[in-house]
Amino acid sequence: MAVQSEVGLIDELVRLRAELRRREREAADKELQLQRYAADLRETFKQERARAQELRRSYMATVRALSNAVEARDAYTGKHAERVAAYGLVIARKFAPELEITPELEFGYLLHDVGKVAIPDAILYKPSSLDDDERALMSRHPVIGAEIVQGIEFLTEAAEVVRSHHERWDGTGYPDGLAGEEIPLAARVFALADALDAITSDRPYRAATSLADARARLRGAGGQFDPAVIEAFESIPDERIDAIRARAV
Ligand SMILES: [Fe+2]
Repeated sequence: MAVQSEVGLIDELVRLRAELRRREREAADKELQLQRYAADLRETFKQERARAQELRRSYMATVRALSNAVEARDAYTGKHAERVAAYGLVIARKFAPELEITPELEFGYLLHDVGKVAIPDAILYKPSSLDDDERALMSRHPVIGAEIVQGIEFLTEAAEVVRSHHERWDGTGYPDGLAGEEIPLAARVFALADALDAITSDRPYRAATSLADARARLRGAGGQFDPAVIEAFESIPDERIDAIRARAV
């Protein structure tokens, strides 16, 4: 009887060991599966990220091509859009951390004057001042620009800047006569960047103003700009602004 129960115990032990080995094999298989799954996920994520970067590069190339096409008509501005975009991004970072610094913001800055493609050469290049009708047509370029870009999904945010880039803090701008914080944040930043570039660039009819003078003029143009944007601009060192001017002439 004792021998029988001993045999039974040994059988049970053998069975348990076999079961243990089976479970160990199953666990090892599962771990291997999980490792493969994790590796697949990592690879998919890497590929997705590369695709997203590629897409962004394509978007940026398209926007730059469009921006250059606009600027090519306007001989004296040089790389105005690139400089304004760079100034705008630097000020935006200082001024409004809540303003997400996205490529879409930069697209808006680069394409701000895209509506000028619809302005006839005779008006765009007119050496004398514009009459009322010409001025009215010229001042439609923000609306035309917004209409051009708003149908393009990746430029939806940019359309806001394009439409509102000539609005003024005191409400006397165009096309909508928005005032104060009614003006989109990104467009308020843009307005100062645009003026800074205009003042500090050479024009056929006048030489560029020094940065120190430009700062004084912008400071004095209180009604035109958001005071908080001016303050943010004041906190940016000259070297930072000079570096942008030197890079994009
Ligand atoms: Fe404009």
